[in-house]
Amino acid sequence: MSYNLLKGKRGIIFGALDENSIAWKTAVRVHEEGGTFVLTNAPIALRMGTIKNLAEQTGSEVIPADATSLEDLENLVTKSMEILGGKIDFVLHSIGMSVNVRKGRHYTDMNYDWTTKGWDISAVSFHKVMQTLYKADAMSEWGSIVALTYMAAQRTFPDYNDMADNKSYLESIARSFGYFFGKEKKVRVNTISQSPTPTTAGQGVKGFDGFISYAEKMSPLGNATALDCANYTVTLFSDLTKRVTMQNLYNDGGFSNTGVSQEVIERFTEE
Ligand SMILES: NC(=O)c1ccc[n+]([C@@H]2O[C@H](COP(=O)([O-])OP(=O)(O)OC[C@H]3O[C@@H](n4cnc5c(N)ncnc54)[C@H](O)[C@@H]3O)[C@@H](O)[C@H]2O)c1
Repeated sequence: MSYNLLKGKRGIIFGALDENSIAWKTAVRVHEEGGTFVLTNAPIALRMGTIKNLAEQTGSEVIPADATSLEDLENLVTKSMEILGGKIDFVLHSIGMSVNVRKGRHYTDMNYDWTTKGWDISAVSFHKVMQTLYKADAMSEWGSIVALTYMAAQRTFPDYNDMADNKSYLESIARSFGYFFGKEKKVRVNTISQSPTPTTAGQGVKGFDGFISYAEKMSPLGNATALDCANYTVTLFSDLTKRVTMQNLYNDGGFSNTGVSQEVIERFTEE
């Protein structure tokens, strides 16, 4: 179903790797709602993933950019405005990677070079994206910027490792930059804190299967899917949420405010 919520709006979508990616579902929904956009991902992801199919499906161009490289980001922003024919109305930052998680390094035995790399990719890249847009004065007034995060930023989930710290930093950047983007350019900045979702990044976390079914049983509405996240993002890109900014918004079926659920109690009640 389409409500034409994004008719005439132009954007940049980071992080579509394959059709499971949250960014992929978001691109499809944004297209259905009438938005036009440039798709981007790291050069290696473009070689490994299937983004070309998404570009064809949505009539979009793909511009490679490593989100940690200011040079790549400057090129991306300039080219996107040329291709789309004007300033940018919406941006999705859907990027995350921890080398410690990927290589199975425990939180108490970190390789700090990897920690720094993961922090740069997962958190600082959000600042780099916004600073590049800000300096180029590339955002339209009442534009909207969204990044994706996870509740491990507030509560400990042991296997989430250093991604928990990266997400805390990411959420803080949304508030800090949201202030300046709001004041100077009337642009809003928010993070969506999403339920565990079966994607390449999600499945990289140890014990993901048990974890996702636990969250499903804990959440009164069940886990939010990638499509739910795409729909929520569409509302944040639309003109219906103009003064929502500097927020961390939970899209998690109620998980974050649930102490325990009946299903979980039953699993632990001895007969
Ligand atoms: N899957 C979950 O359970 C879950 C839950 C909450 C939040 N999130 C967040 O959602 C976002 C999207 O992840 P996903 O689950 O769709 O997985 P995904 O693996 O499909 O997406 C992660 C993306 O990050 C990109 N990326 C990595 N390094 C990059 C770099 N240097 N430059 C540019 N892009 C780079 C990857 O190529 C990939 O497209 C991430 O921020 C993730 O932390 C995921």
